[in-house]
Amino acid sequence: MSCSHHYYQQAGLGDDAFTLDASTVTFGAGCLKEAGDHARAQGMKRVALFTDKSVAKLEHCAVVRQSLTDAGIDAVVYDEVAVEPTDVSFQAATRFAAGGNFDGFVSVGGGSVMDTCKAANVYATHPAEFLAYINAPVGRGEPVPGPLKPHIACPTTSGTGSEVTGIAIFDYLPMQAKTGMVSRRMKPTTALIDPNVTRTLPATIVAATGFDAMSHALETLTAIPYARRAKAPQPSRRPVSQGANPWSDAVAHEALDLVGTYFLRAVQDPADTDARAEMMYAATLAGIAFGNAGCHLPHGMSYAVSGLIREYRAPDYAQDGPFIPHGMSVILNAPSVYRFTAEACPDRHLDAARRLGADTKGATDADAGEVLANRLIEFVRAVGFPNGLSAVGFSERDLDALVKGALPQARVINNAPRAVGPEELRKLYAGALAYW
Ligand SMILES: [Fe+2]
Repeated sequence: MSCSHHYYQQAGLGDDAFTLDASTVTFGAGCLKEAGDHARAQGMKRVALFTDKSVAKLEHCAVVRQSLTDAGIDAVVYDEVAVEPTDVSFQAATRFAAGGNFDGFVSVGGGSVMDTCKAANVYATHPAEFLAYINAPVGRGEPVPGPLKPHIACPTTSGTGSEVTGIAIFDYLPMQAKTGMVSRRMKPTTALIDPNVTRTLPATIVAATGFDAMSHALETLTAIPYARRAKAPQPSRRPVSQGANPWSDAVAHEALDLVGTYFLRAVQDPADTDARAEMMYAATLAGIAFGNAGCHLPHGMSYAVSGLIREYRAPDYAQDGPFIPHGMSVILNAPSVYRFTAEACPDRHLDAARRLGADTKGATDADAGEVLANRLIEFVRAVGFPNGLSAVGFSERDLDALVKGALPQARVINNAPRAVGPEELRKLYAGALAYW
């Protein structure tokens, strides 16, 4: 879509430009063994290697460590990353990062590991009171004041896109709210994306992370256009969640085409290495897309869902207590959201549904939300995921608490194509309780 398309006509107080952040990405089977050479080329001599206890036992971590050793780099392992990071675990990681005399960071793991590494890099390099860099309204949302140390991110799942974004998400325990920190400076300097890591992933994890990637692309495409989003006080502080733009559209289109073709194959057949590699590539593209546009309601609503989960425990995850994977909490909200947002940009909803494999022949603008919602529900059923929020333990009685948990997510909620307040959020959660 051209930048002069009517969807991007500047309107009122909206922004008149958008900013692209291209990550340095290396993609290919076996590329984790390049870690040492990239680290050396970036001047690293002594690195903090972030991972978690389960990834630390995997071959991927051993490959990265060996590669660093072969390049003559000292790597000190930090495997205390919490699977659901909190302010406490971020601060513990910061103490490690600040005390080790490191000149660079390497992360090997999923979104939690990469996010924790980004946060530790920020606070160890530019020490500040914890709430300083945390998104408003929970924190003060101050900009990260200067460059960070180099960070090579090696994802071990195919979904979060954290390796190509400047975003870190965590639970802020004093408020029992998920929030995050965002800065272009937090984007890893290099992403090493090796599709071999997906070969041994259990189906539930491929499904949850695949839904996360699918949702990143969908939310990018249906976010408010940048030209309707309020201008930043200074151009250099234009938010990462800057709204849909022609470039993020193009990247999200490609991601959705791949997800439409390969998602179910990758989940249902662990031996289908082609499909799993394509999902890894799609997740990278979707990460780049939302890293330059921002997510909106399915993500904004998901943080309250994961924060309030009481009994549900997803299969195939190692957690001791109640746990819902991020991608699952996102996708369970999505059909309800798109039924609501479709009227803002029906052509985009229909186009997304078609790219995901829905039959859109004869569909009108009035059908757009329903068509996309139904396609997503088909995917949810096909992989055996729960039937809405009621199937993971929520009921009408929880709606107020869910709304209260979502409201602090202003950064993403304001990126939706329609204005949303507490009343709308309540209806959206009610619509996500059950789908069939
Ligand atoms: Fe996500």
